[in-house]
Amino acid sequence: MRLIPFSCQLWRDKRGRLSYLRIATLALLLFPLAKALFDAQAIYDGARPINDLIHRAGFWALIFLGVTLAVTPFRSIARYGNLIDVRRMLGVGTFCYIAAHLLLYIDDQMFDLGKVAYEITHRWYLIVGGTAWLGLAVLAITSTDGMMRRLGGLRWRRLHSIIYGIALLALIHYFQQTKADVTVPVFAAGLFGWLICYRLLAWWQGKQQLSTLSLFGLTIVVSALTFFGEAIGIGIAFGVSPMVVLGAAFDIQAGIRPGWEVLAAGLAVVALDFVRSRFNSRSAWTRTRAQAVAAE
Ligand code: HEM
Repeated sequence: MRLIPFSCQLWRDKRGRLSYLRIATLALLLFPLAKALFDAQAIYDGARPINDLIHRAGFWALIFLGVTLAVTPFRSIARYGNLIDVRRMLGVGTFCYIAAHLLLYIDDQMFDLGKVAYEITHRWYLIVGGTAWLGLAVLAITSTDGMMRRLGGLRWRRLHSIIYGIALLALIHYFQQTKADVTVPVFAAGLFGWLICYRLLAWWQGKQQLSTLSLFGLTIVVSALTFFGEAIGIGIAFGVSPMVVLGAAFDIQAGIRPGWEVLAAGLAVVALDFVRSRFNSRSAWTRTRAQAVAAE
């Protein structure tokens, strides 16, 4: 008798074969948990251990939400269709972290559910986070094969497209509770912006696969928007001219601004697409040539 049924062995693909991609995904999903265990003593000695864990769970949920959103574009860019096999695992993993985020918050409120309900319906950043939470719960519940069959492909896809709205709410929640330094939230917003704009451009062009040139254009536009967005945000928050903030972006001594990081990440993707498109067309050409030679 098998100790763990095949369907529960997350490291195996649908045919029951050991999948290195699934093992790597599982390791990625468990990394924050392992890191929290590694940092356990420091967390315990900190001023607010539960709050530290709330931040960790929220942060990693946002990261995994981004990774889940990145699966579809990266399947085309890396010419690696198999990536789809781990999308559900990533989505459910995101929900596990967000469930932990809420549970830890309830713990922080001494399990006073009345207070939790009051806070979630009266504080803006929690109303926004709570709405995103509900959206993620709906997606997790409807992620099973049975639910997919019940809803039908088209309705399922339409329902799951709310993930973009959820990502937007999660980012707003992140910004709302960030007290001073917005560097990481702006970088995250830039990356999410890139992913959302990719989908919009693909939809507008009516294509699954964007050309390397389109990816390059997308990267330039999203990086510029990240610079402008940060400058306008800081300008409004601190009552300074956005032009002064923009000027500081070119002063590397003052630190590297998120717009540059978004540009670097985007250009790395463009380079990957360029290499994969050349490599793929060469191997396709070699295959066709070999078939032609065999036929002679
Ligand atoms: C009912 C739902 C939610 C509650 C009650 C909640 C509560 C909180 C609280 C209390 C904080 C820390 C605030 C502080 O210390 O001032 C926080 C931070 C955060 N939350 Fe949520 N949240 C919810 C939903 C979400 C969702 C759906 C996401 C994203 C998918 C999310 C992502 C984050 C992030 C990224 C942070 C900041 C982490 C960091 O500082 O690195 N939260 N949330």
